[in-house]
Amino acid sequence: MAKKRVVVLYGGRADEHSISCISTAGVLNAMDTERFEPIPVGITKDGKWIVNGEDPRGWKLDGGELPTVQVTPESRPVLLDVSRGQDGFFMGEPAHLTSGESGFGTSFVSLNDPEMQHVLTSMGHVDAVLPVLHGPYGEDGTVQGLLEMMGVPYVGCGVFASAACMDKHYTKIVLSAAGIPTAPGIMVDARNFTAADVLAKVEEAGLAYPLFVKPSRAGSSFGVTKVDKADDRETQQDRLAAAVATAGEHDWKVLIEQGVDGREIECAVLCPKAGDEPEASWPGEIVLDQGTDDQFYDFDSKYMDASASHVEVPANLPVSVLEDVRDVARRAFKAVDGAGLSRVDTFVTPDGTVVVNEINTMPGFTPISMYPKAWEATGVGYTELITRLIEGVLR
Ligand SMILES: Nc1ncnc2c1ncn2[C@@H]1O[C@H](COP(=O)(O)OP(=O)(O)O)[C@@H](O)[C@H]1O
Ligand SMILES: [Mg+2]
Repeated sequence: MAKKRVVVLYGGRADEHSISCISTAGVLNAMDTERFEPIPVGITKDGKWIVNGEDPRGWKLDGGELPTVQVTPESRPVLLDVSRGQDGFFMGEPAHLTSGESGFGTSFVSLNDPEMQHVLTSMGHVDAVLPVLHGPYGEDGTVQGLLEMMGVPYVGCGVFASAACMDKHYTKIVLSAAGIPTAPGIMVDARNFTAADVLAKVEEAGLAYPLFVKPSRAGSSFGVTKVDKADDRETQQDRLAAAVATAGEHDWKVLIEQGVDGREIECAVLCPKAGDEPEASWPGEIVLDQGTDDQFYDFDSKYMDASASHVEVPANLPVSVLEDVRDVARRAFKAVDGAGLSRVDTFVTPDGTVVVNEINTMPGFTPISMYPKAWEATGVGYTELITRLIEGVLR
């Protein structure tokens, strides 16, 4: 049987660009190349789609410089012809990336040019796309919309679930409507607020301290601040205003949430074929190995320092609580209309209540990330996981 040709999209315009590169290294190294022919397509930080960049397979997290998608002299731009669907992927010539103001720009040849036929080369029939992209323009429904327009099968959540889960404010609304508990919270507009108004809104909503102030559409703990109770209103206002401004650097939509006193338990949900019942892994927990003053998992302890933490699956909790987490995770996945995969992050309070914190529709996918580790501990290995996800969308 002919190998299925899979475009693996990586990099991208989001802050999590390098995480995507490292996830992709893992995916490409583990992909079953008897079944699949991967076609790695990198997206630079400024949004250029390329092939023939640096080989992602060698990238890893070793404390050195973070990998990024760079245009090399051999790189060729990728062009899409939306109307050609699975045959709509083309490559230009390397010079098109380096000449002209932007992309093809003014260097593009005219249709009357006799050389035109050599300018674009078909990348051949594409059986599926695996977008290993995190954050905005990757995990938020935009690239999913593009692939829907083209009619190309792709792995993962569709437009709605991706968009709803990228925006923590809307995730809360959808989950609440499905009767799934989330932390009480309010939304403020960082473009237009006063410290006094914010404090008044917090009081009106009856939110208890500590609070967590975070951008509604960001990830990797960027812009998240814990705000403790202050002794006087003035200090409280100042703290809140500073936290809103910090979150506002990432998104004008800022969420102020009541802090949940609980352990952070994450559950991997898998549903390769649309319409099937989603499966939930054993829930896991990130256990910090080194003493840290940080109040919560920040970017460094999550991603940059592999020795700072490890994942423990199943998390050290009673089986009945683990089963509750799995049940909530499956329900949350269905409530947002999930597809393919998602990691549902929860807080489990001391009395065993499960509160959903967020849903990541394209979770970290390196071999040591929670998502693959959780499935490994539940009996689905890394390579098999990738195979199932891709085969689930093939036509
Ligand atoms: N309501 C909350 N209660 C307690 N801790 C929180 C709350 N919201 C966020 N945190 C802490 O901040 C971290 C990052 O926030 P999160 O909502 O997961 O955003 P991100 O998308 O950046 O991962 C969480 O892992 C958790 O440690
Ligand atoms: Mg999180």
